[in-house]
Amino acid sequence: MNKHEALVEKQKDSICNTYGRYPVNVTKAKGSRLWDLDGREYIDLLSGISVANVGHCRDDLADLMAEQARKLVMVSNLFYQEEQVECAEKLLATCGADKVFFCNSGAEANEAAIKLARRYMRTIKERDAYEIITLEGSFHGRTLATLTATGQTGPIKDGYSPLPEGFSYAPAGDIEAMTAMVSDKTAAIMIEIVQGEGGIKPLAHDYVEALAKLVKEKDILLIVDEVQSGLCRTGKWWAHQHYGITPDIFTSAKALANGLPMGAMLATDEVAKGFTPGSHATTFGGGALVSKVSSKVLDIMTDEKLADRAAELGDFFIKEALKIKDKHPGKIVSVRGLGLMLGIELGFDGNEIFAKLRDEGFILNLTKGKILRLLPALTIDRADLVSFLNTLDKAFTDMD
Ligand SMILES: Cc1ncc(COP(=O)(O)O)c(C=O)c1O
Repeated sequence: MNKHEALVEKQKDSICNTYGRYPVNVTKAKGSRLWDLDGREYIDLLSGISVANVGHCRDDLADLMAEQARKLVMVSNLFYQEEQVECAEKLLATCGADKVFFCNSGAEANEAAIKLARRYMRTIKERDAYEIITLEGSFHGRTLATLTATGQTGPIKDGYSPLPEGFSYAPAGDIEAMTAMVSDKTAAIMIEIVQGEGGIKPLAHDYVEALAKLVKEKDILLIVDEVQSGLCRTGKWWAHQHYGITPDIFTSAKALANGLPMGAMLATDEVAKGFTPGSHATTFGGGALVSKVSSKVLDIMTDEKLADRAAELGDFFIKEALKIKDKHPGKIVSVRGLGLMLGIELGFDGNEIFAKLRDEGFILNLTKGKILRLLPALTIDRADLVSFLNTLDKAFTDMD
């Protein structure tokens, strides 16, 4: 039994069986490289599913973590902490929101968004509006409320009933259907600007503009889930900035502290009035260590102009992938994405080629069985993307 097989056996005895894992273990990471227990090197095109946006295990972040770990890690939200305020100020400077609630994950950020929307409607607007309309195919998390908000069926929902009331799902892109679903019970419309788990699907500009108009007309809220698409991933700080809209609430997590668990819900001053002391809380949210790291991550993103880099590299990747599409008719249905949030939809079951790419040393994701999903670090070398594209091209040639 090699080291990998021994680890797989041991996990069976100790870890809940919730994940279909890749046949890969990871023991070390640096930049856009991963290594396994046997010393095999991989090019990481997934970065922990859009988490290590500034690259794995950077010396500047490691030094900062060590320093802060000796000063203050966390004391709870019963205390004022300058690290938390500094991080909030930096985050707010990237967007049109006015207030932040820090938490620990994407699901928790979305849970906070749903709670705030309902509470704002009840306590500030004095309306019994609680329903949240989300989009079919969306993914918003795994807590009871956020899995209910998720516009998908299957194992994510099976066996968990009764699910919370007050969620409904509209077909993405259909403004008439959405308009017909809004009622006096509607508190908010909640969207991913680019559906991630749903297969890298950016929403059309006119649809998002129409949604922004609709929420104004109906005096309801627009919540944007930027857990995967935020933090320079799509070529701007936030994907919604491509569309010229200011959501009432939006959420972030994943890359916020580049791998330390951190989430945030951001809201306008008006909507943030819906929360008052005691109405929402979390023990770890915005602790000094994660906040310090997050502030530095935001600085790195600014200093290294990572939004521009994501836009430029993403355009390059899509252009090159389209050439491969033309070269191998029928293999690729579409290449899509925004910045370095990239999807290549295959015209056939993708499991075999996905395994082959992994065997060749590339870590990425396969979603919906046929969409190769890439979320590389925004610091990735162009040469690594070229190397992936050449390997994909060769894999198609071998298939022909
Ligand atoms: C768009 C979106 N929302 C929410 C989540 C849930 O985030 P977390 O796994 O941190 O709870 C994810 C995770 O993949 C996501 O992609």
